[in-house]
Amino acid sequence: MPGFAHHAIPNVTRDPLNASTALVVLYTGPVSMSESIRYEHINSVGLITLDNPPVNAFSLALRVSLRDALTQAIEDDGVTAIVITGGGRMFSAGADITEFDSGVSNQSPTLPELIELVENAPKPVVAAIHGNAMGGGCELCLGCHGRVAASGTKIGLPEVTLGIVPGAGGTQRMPRLIGVPAALNMIVSGKPLTAEQAHKLGLIDELTDSETNLVESGLSLALQLAELGDPVRTRDRDERLAEARDEPELFDQFRRKIAHRARGFEAPYACIECVEAALWKPFSEGVLFERETFQRCRKSLQSKAQRHVFFAERQARKVQGLASDTTVLQVTRAAVLGCGTMGGGIAMCFANAGIRVTVTESTQDALDRGMDMIKKNYHATVSKGRLSREDAEARLALIEPTLDFETVGNADFVIEAVFENMDLKKDIFARLDSVCHSNAVLATNTSSLDINDIAAVTSRPEQVLGTHFFSPANVMRLLEIVRGSQTSPEVLATAMSLSQRLQKVGVVVGVCDSFAANRMLYPYTRQAEFLVEEGALPEQVDRVLYDLGFPMGPFAMSDLAGLDVGYKIRQHREPSQTKNLRHSTIADQLYELGRYGQKTRAGWYQYGEDGRTPVSDPEVTQTIIATSEKLGIDRTEIPDEEILQRCMYPLINEGARILEEGIVERSSDLDLVWLYGYGFPRYRGGPMFWADSLGLAHVYETMKNFHDIHPDWLEPAPLLEQLAREGKTFGEWRAP
Ligand SMILES: NC(=O)c1ccc[n+]([C@@H]2O[C@H](COP(=O)([O-])OP(=O)(O)OC[C@H]3O[C@@H](n4cnc5c(N)ncnc54)[C@H](O)[C@@H]3O)[C@@H](O)[C@H]2O)c1
Repeated sequence: MPGFAHHAIPNVTRDPLNASTALVVLYTGPVSMSESIRYEHINSVGLITLDNPPVNAFSLALRVSLRDALTQAIEDDGVTAIVITGGGRMFSAGADITEFDSGVSNQSPTLPELIELVENAPKPVVAAIHGNAMGGGCELCLGCHGRVAASGTKIGLPEVTLGIVPGAGGTQRMPRLIGVPAALNMIVSGKPLTAEQAHKLGLIDELTDSETNLVESGLSLALQLAELGDPVRTRDRDERLAEARDEPELFDQFRRKIAHRARGFEAPYACIECVEAALWKPFSEGVLFERETFQRCRKSLQSKAQRHVFFAERQARKVQGLASDTTVLQVTRAAVLGCGTMGGGIAMCFANAGIRVTVTESTQDALDRGMDMIKKNYHATVSKGRLSREDAEARLALIEPTLDFETVGNADFVIEAVFENMDLKKDIFARLDSVCHSNAVLATNTSSLDINDIAAVTSRPEQVLGTHFFSPANVMRLLEIVRGSQTSPEVLATAMSLSQRLQKVGVVVGVCDSFAANRMLYPYTRQAEFLVEEGALPEQVDRVLYDLGFPMGPFAMSDLAGLDVGYKIRQHREPSQTKNLRHSTIADQLYELGRYGQKTRAGWYQYGEDGRTPVSDPEVTQTIIATSEKLGIDRTEIPDEEILQRCMYPLINEGARILEEGIVERSSDLDLVWLYGYGFPRYRGGPMFWADSLGLAHVYETMKNFHDIHPDWLEPAPLLEQLAREGKTFGEWRAP
């Protein structure tokens, strides 16, 4: 076989000779190897081990080797059955996504062709699965005639998260094996099953308690199947599909069930269509339909956007000046100062990650209030069935409230979340400097203050940085990690590693007023309020941005965050911070009317019984119209398109400034910030990716037109102008 070198010494993963079951293992042949496959004979079984580290992705090279090994095993009369297993950490993470754009994934042998070769083999092929079998890796297993898995294995079809459908028969074979309802749940959510769940559903034939005896179980099952005669092909199974043919309404029921969660996404619905096709089309037509759907999705802007996010998350972990072997300091104890809105949520993040955390406050009253809020939050999660009572209690027990500041001295990672006041923060950091141990990381949750000024009051500015959580801190996944001018690589690496432990998406940003996310938010909300002065109403503005895919528009968001929060920020901002920019007074007027948002059941909207559903309020409309009159503005109808552009393009424009100032390394970091901080729709990839897809020349020209009309605001950023002129994208731009 070309490409296979012969080795005299057999090499078996997970050592079947040491396993305890009865199978007698005899080596009957040499090991063949290619770059990405090991092939050997064990008794009369051909054992194929995928060996393409780190995740056995089905690159073209692996597909060619697998085809060659399969062909060799099928043609070899001495082989009665075949086992495929994965070397290293897992069976396979699936297709090589980097081949999607280049089209290499379509080169023969494609994954569907390989799976067909497996399924049509005249001898049984068994998958012996450990670690992960995802996407194409899972689909290969479905084409096999039997499956054994080690406990701890995860099996899933996460394609939907990349905006595509499984494209190698997954939507056709999965329902044949586990039934339509379970297959829909799995394929449309993209969530993997544990080996135990998969076994219960009939996806896995045999479970082994460890990886040690996995291959041996696979060999044993393969020989048993060989005894039974012609292998049973998954494609020929119909009994689980027949059950669903009796209740075809389940597809529409499922569509209704996911409507809220999947709003705006195309791939979940494409997945449902493919599973539905499995029911009514012969297998050969079903796979064709699936493949066409896969190709259509692969080329769609939505899938490109979702793949962009996938890579953006990985890119964000690579930080300039931070070697991959940078020491990460140990964090076994944490402390949070201030148990208000943010401090309480941050303490919960630590407890949820199993990290003991001390919480301090300035008064017993404030401490009790903070702890009550934490208990209430856990209680709510338990009553929604998302957490067991025992787990909630165990987490609560990790939070230690105290008024004794000295106890903070034990902590390895301290986060200050007291009022947004520079003098207070400086005072706290000077005290932290005197009580904290010499390796402790000292972080501030400030949303706008200069981290370098705060660090300067300590004797160890290299151990100071910002950890900017988003509200509610225990829910929102974004964490802006603010690197001060003296923050050491170890401290930065420790914060990044901690963000992963806390299940946050950490994005490193530099010091500037309000950092990346809020800095981009301000022009967005400012424009939304100007639009209302000029003729729109909050309902129209919110609808336009909701339709773009945000979970809510800027006015509903302001009601949720609290108009009092914005008001206080505006009161305390220095003129230099606002650059003397005018802002609409309507929000201030609403605040003065006692309308703080959801918390007072009235803000930009009024709120009914549940306190959450916004309803239009004539008092607000009157305030708006009176303000326009006072400003001498002749209110006119504003088209939806202008609302969208006036809100979004200034936000993107500010992103361009953030990029050119080097506050973040790449535009995809800004995409993550908006996806995880404000719920920007994932299927649009983030605001900067979205701008790239619209074309920067168009974004620039529109900004320029706005600027001509309103010369005091909306000036296009130089970087936006430059990229538009050069015909480039934000994605292509790298800091000089
Ligand atoms: N609220 C948000 O959405 C948000 C988002 C990101 C960042 N932040 C930032 O987080 C920090 C906290 O904001 P918040 O909204 O939680 O404020 P908050 O008013 O809800 O809580 C601040 C808490 O700090 C306590 N405190 C004051 N002085 C203290 C001291 N000397 N020692 C210990 N505790 C003390 C107060 O009693 C209060 O409970 C601020 O810097 C804010 O800018 C807020």
